[in-house]
Amino acid sequence: MASYKQITKQYSQQLREVTHIPQKEVEILLLNILQQNIIWLHLNFMDECEVKVENELKQLVKKRATNYPLEYIIKKASFYGESFIVSEGVLIPRPETEILVEKAEAILKTIQNPKVVEVGVGSGIVSVMLALLIPDIEIIAVDINDKALELASKNAKKFQVEDKITFINSDIFTSIDVKNFDMCISNPPYIQSNSKLPDNVNFEPSNALYGGDIGDELLKNIANQTVNNNIKYLLCEMGYDQKASMQRHLAQFDTKSIEFYKDYDKFDRGFICEFKENKNVN
Ligand SMILES: C[S@@+](CC[C@H](N)C(=O)[O-])C[C@H]1O[C@@H](n2cnc3c(N)ncnc32)[C@H](O)[C@@H]1O
Repeated sequence: MASYKQITKQYSQQLREVTHIPQKEVEILLLNILQQNIIWLHLNFMDECEVKVENELKQLVKKRATNYPLEYIIKKASFYGESFIVSEGVLIPRPETEILVEKAEAILKTIQNPKVVEVGVGSGIVSVMLALLIPDIEIIAVDINDKALELASKNAKKFQVEDKITFINSDIFTSIDVKNFDMCISNPPYIQSNSKLPDNVNFEPSNALYGGDIGDELLKNIANQTVNNNIKYLLCEMGYDQKASMQRHLAQFDTKSIEFYKDYDKFDRGFICEFKENKNVN
């Protein structure tokens, strides 16, 4: 039998093509099998690994070597310092979406009993984090993917905020009433339909990624419907190359302020729009 140290080194060779942290990923897979933490592993690195555990690890490494996402294998992902449940068929949380949550929190802290609608709840990271950060918040979270609604509701239960969030299957606001809402927040699909994606992203659902022939169609539709429903704030994540087109689109509305923000890599990544008054568009 080989030690944990030997095994993690040996299997990391198979992940060199799919990740820049192969050894770390093998450790994560091993810990997921053993249900232990990293401190335990480093204290027991020279202990022998059972054959049963090694065989299980071999299978998981083989799967990961096909570019299948690590988060789908271990069924969890970190977001905003918390561990969320993830599952195949629903988008894996991305770190840059934390900025969207931070921007929303700053505004919502200034509103009493804020009412928020999230379009495209996915795994629930945005709505659940806002429910944790804002004590008196009320949220309607919609998605067109039932798997996403089921997962988001599991995460809401995990963090005990299920009383603050109503999950509904709706194409934007089609099946809901958002009268008197303060904010619409969304990280919608915004990638151009014919774009080639990295191999690992191809394992994620296409309706969470592609926003239309140009890419920003859904973003614009969400903006139109936010204005039509007289919702004061719109906060969205967007593609790095969509600032100019969204700027042009938002310019047709009566706005008090529009701020575009960048992600951790300094790419344009989203906007915060405060509307002055309603102006109906189709
Ligand atoms: C990029 S994912 C974001 C998920 C999650 N909010 C996050 O930040 O990780 C976009 C989500 O929007 C959903 N979606 C796509 N089109 C939609 C529509 N027309 N109305 C509501 N939700 C939609 C997808 O199913 C997907 O879950």
